[in-house]
Amino acid sequence: MYNSVSLTQFILEEQRRYSAVSGEFTALLNDVATACKVISAAVNKGALAGVLGGAGSDNVQGEAQKKLDVISNDVVIGCNEWTGHLAALASEEMEEIYPIPAKYPRGKYLLVFDPLDGSSNIDVNISVGTIFSILRCPEGVKEPTAKDFLQPGTQQVCAGYALYGPSTMLVITTGNGVDGFTLDQSVGEFVLTHPKMKIPADTKEFAINASNSRFWEPPVTRYINECLAGKTGPRKQDFNMRWVASMVAEVHRILTRGGIFLYPRDTKDPSKPGRLRLMYEANPMSFIVEQAGGVSSTGRERILDIQPDNLHQRVPVILGSKNEVDRVIQYHKES
Ligand code: F6P
Ligand code: MN
Repeated sequence: MYNSVSLTQFILEEQRRYSAVSGEFTALLNDVATACKVISAAVNKGALAGVLGGAGSDNVQGEAQKKLDVISNDVVIGCNEWTGHLAALASEEMEEIYPIPAKYPRGKYLLVFDPLDGSSNIDVNISVGTIFSILRCPEGVKEPTAKDFLQPGTQQVCAGYALYGPSTMLVITTGNGVDGFTLDQSVGEFVLTHPKMKIPADTKEFAINASNSRFWEPPVTRYINECLAGKTGPRKQDFNMRWVASMVAEVHRILTRGGIFLYPRDTKDPSKPGRLRLMYEANPMSFIVEQAGGVSSTGRERILDIQPDNLHQRVPVILGSKNEVDRVIQYHKES
């Protein structure tokens, strides 16, 4: 394709280089990419297609679903259930897992996804995205249950996100670095545009929802106060702040030019140890961030090492440029 490398070519060549990657996996990733193209088209049409606004329902987390949340969830299922590569799917928008119906063949992988992350941004036409994580279905399991999904993030075969921004991008890792593809709308292909993305170790940009500051724990308050103090404070340099309220956009910015993102544990709602969900937000993003040379932690432990106990569990997330995240981890140790 006009001297550029398409997603399919890229994955096939990876597959030849690393025998751990099978043809079945390549086909699965193509199905996921197809789903992202369909969602991209729907997001892009917006009001023209009548897809903006609320769906009039709540998801498992008790959050109001947008029409596009529901549509995106259906698209991911529709593009993947019949192809024979998956044993089951699980999503932010479904309380229970979705085993592949008996009328279709079952494959050896599990797909966990957030169909439309940052969906509060849809109606205001700001970037949203799809996040996904691919796991192996445990050996010998014919009837997968939620328990089979509860694998630590270190077990992920692949993680990725699609960003529906000014251009649509797909960013993936299979454990050999992070590569970014841009959707060429004119031919309908994802094209390799951002090979081997690396997060700079240092940054002067932080992202946190500061409206929660009165609920933060002392190490987070200390870190942010030091950033805010700028040149005349202990850090002796000025910092800049960003908050898109769309984790995909936030992580993409960090992959592009560095930064630190925090959605820390706070005391706002003691029943929730964090805002973001481990299986389909924190784990895939942590895999990507680590593969790009960054760090991802709850402040107390590496996110990828957490043994999940629930499909929809929440965790504190602090990720991005190595030296800044390490500093926040250090502040947690000291407090
Ligand atoms: O799905 C969670 C999410 O939408 C993330 O994309 C984003 O980082 C966060 O929630 C925004 O939270 P808040 O509404 O508190 O700013
Ligand atoms: Mn989300």
